[in-house]
Amino acid sequence: MSARIIDGKALSATIKAQVAQRVQTLAHHGITPGLAVVLVGEDAASQVYVRNKAAACEKAGLHSKVIRLAADTSEETLLEVVRTLNGDADVHGILVQLPLPSHMNAGKVIETIAPAKDVDGFHISNAGLLMTGRPLVRPCTPYGIMKILESENVVLRGAEAVVVGASNIVGKPMALLLLAAGATVTLCNSKTRDLGAQTRRADVLVVATGHSRMITGDMIKPGAIVIDVGINRQADGKLAGDVDFESACKVASAITPVPGGVGPMTIAMLLVNTLEAAERCLPI
Ligand code: GUN
Repeated sequence: MSARIIDGKALSATIKAQVAQRVQTLAHHGITPGLAVVLVGEDAASQVYVRNKAAACEKAGLHSKVIRLAADTSEETLLEVVRTLNGDADVHGILVQLPLPSHMNAGKVIETIAPAKDVDGFHISNAGLLMTGRPLVRPCTPYGIMKILESENVVLRGAEAVVVGASNIVGKPMALLLLAAGATVTLCNSKTRDLGAQTRRADVLVVATGHSRMITGDMIKPGAIVIDVGINRQADGKLAGDVDFESACKVASAITPVPGGVGPMTIAMLLVNTLEAAERCLPI
């Protein structure tokens, strides 16, 4: 078998075009959705992500501003920046790029963002709504993966879904979204015994571990849909996913590539979340 390669770039382009249309409609009401991205420090990967997020906003007609703070900025200064953005009517979405420098408490910073403007969906209020089956703002990467599965017409009701990696950003919200869609969900973590025994049961396998090519073809059920969230820079400068693409392609029925799979979808869903935060500001 040779897996179909899922084109996340094409799907993200379709979603961004839909966002651009809805931005036009909002313009008739005098609203331009605005995203504020706060970047603390010089992390090279974060710089690239933030640049891409701002560029995608501008292209879809959203307003964006990037607030860059030095790595030695105090936590209180960052909290003040967030509080100011909370009170800024032109800002509908606030994103504080993670990771933050080690002297800052990321949880405290996220909890300072107004939940209605938390376009990452990381605030405990949004996490709690998701957990109780009433999602308001869904975290962008798992939300994008749900859109991929939808576009692939994957039947999740009754499916065995296995998520590898239990982070707050991807793994845990991914498991909750799959559960809400009717899948039987297994959430694996770094302590999981015999990972292959778990992954081989998966009709839908989502991998978000940050470990290059750790899931190999022999760990995949024939015909499975494989979603690779990893973006790992190799010694030769190329990018690799958390899934060993070559061996996985021989077993899976469909797979997301790296790059060009999940990554573009994360940015598209950030635009959707920012747009919808602005739409919620319309008088009913
Ligand atoms: N760092 C890596 N991924 C993300 C993300 O989705 N949101 C934020 N805020 N930081 C990140």
